[in-house]
Amino acid sequence: MSTRPLSLSVVILAAGQGKRMKSDLPKVLQPLAGRPLLKHVIDTARQLDPTSVHVVYGHGGDRVRETLKDEKVSWVLQAEQLGTGHAVMQAAKHLQDDEVVLVLYGDVPLTKSQTLDELLSLANAKAMSLLTVMLDDPTGYGRVIRDSREQVQKIVEQKDASKKELLARECNSGVMAMHAKHLKSWLSRLSNDNAQGEYYLTDVIAMAVKDGIKVNPLVVANAAEVLGVNDKVQLSEVEAVHRREKARELMLAGATIVDPARIDIRGDVTIGKDVYLDVNVVLEGKVTLGNRVHIGPNCVIRDCTIEEGTDVLPNSVLDRAIIGPDCHIGPFARIRPSSTLARGVHIGNFVEVKNSQIGEGSKANHLTYLGDSTIGSKVNVGAGTVTCNYDGANKSRTQIDDGAFIGSGSMLVAPVKIGEGATIGAGSTITKDAPASKLTIARGKQVTIDGWKRPVKKPSP
Ligand code: UD1
Ligand code: CA
Repeated sequence: MSTRPLSLSVVILAAGQGKRMKSDLPKVLQPLAGRPLLKHVIDTARQLDPTSVHVVYGHGGDRVRETLKDEKVSWVLQAEQLGTGHAVMQAAKHLQDDEVVLVLYGDVPLTKSQTLDELLSLANAKAMSLLTVMLDDPTGYGRVIRDSREQVQKIVEQKDASKKELLARECNSGVMAMHAKHLKSWLSRLSNDNAQGEYYLTDVIAMAVKDGIKVNPLVVANAAEVLGVNDKVQLSEVEAVHRREKARELMLAGATIVDPARIDIRGDVTIGKDVYLDVNVVLEGKVTLGNRVHIGPNCVIRDCTIEEGTDVLPNSVLDRAIIGPDCHIGPFARIRPSSTLARGVHIGNFVEVKNSQIGEGSKANHLTYLGDSTIGSKVNVGAGTVTCNYDGANKSRTQIDDGAFIGSGSMLVAPVKIGEGATIGAGSTITKDAPASKLTIARGKQVTIDGWKRPVKKPSP
């Protein structure tokens, strides 16, 4: 729980269109590590344990709300986007006078909650706080102007800045904290008399100074934390920062990552010891990898648990599955949702598994589809086998009991059951249950036609 003396409200500005994105997707929904930019900001806000989170939305509003409908935030509409100050004005009536307000931008996704905690500790009844950053190339950012005693005086936007002001390297991150009472009085005095004809939130800094409220700057050590995303170039930059950070976290947790520049971790990954991740691996959502799990090149793994000692060979795609220990998956395997593999299962190349449970030590090594099936232990599924689970209208299950052997090229037309220890002859189309321990064959008999002749080409006229 928070130890802050006052309650905290977070206001996230997310109404802008993001013209510079040149995209139909609202800017705050552009994906970073597979999740909308705004989702990252909301998650960070949540870590501060605030009493409320207000999201100011507007451009592409329905889409923004629909995409993030599960978030516990209060949505505040800014019907017309008249500037960042105007955006905060829309939320003002929801703010209690005696609380602290933290303003975050929906397009600044990498700020750490520890940094925000520190910023909040610098805001009190006599002072507000402002997160700033020193940039070698401050183009596009508002400049923080300090006086000869290093006291912050104001922020000027790039488009309004004088030549001298443009030389300032200290930039406004957009993130600030202050008492709601002060904020409300400043907002009511904002004007749009500036180069962009907008109500700038940044003008509250000069107002604070005028009212004798000190502005405490916190210069962020790592500039990446306040990178704003205005175009696709910046989007790729924050993605790269995020990618490096996630790779670093996993390496510090003990994973061997062959090339940290060529791995994408887009979710929460938990690992055991001696996990090995080869190049171009993508891990999405909640992924748990046990001790000695080895993931080969070009694998995509989403929302999976993979238990210890399992090898996933190159170019395999695993989605919402539980893979037991000591399995061999791939190369070129596809495991789809609701599949559970027990210990020592082998799933080989061009094998697709969907909504199936596969028992210990069973193997399907080549060119096979196992969908909606329950497969016992020590089953061998021959190359080219298909569980025909769909009749065009309904899905049905296939059951294959322990120790069964399915000959290559078999079609198992569900619903159907193959008994324990049964053998199915290669090329069979099985439409009725096959009994345990016996050989079942269902295919045309092989015949040889005596005296048959190959056709010959007719002479051209
Ligand atoms: C803003 C700051 C600038 C700072 C920079 C940091 C102002 C006037 N300028 O500039 O000092 O250096 O961020 O990244 O505040 N938004 C709304 N409603 C609006 C306008 C914007 O909700 O009417 C939202 C946008 O969705 C975005 C955020 O506010 O999430 C910032 O707006 P943007 O237009 O990107 O401001 P910048 O030009 O980057
Ligand atoms: Ca911006």
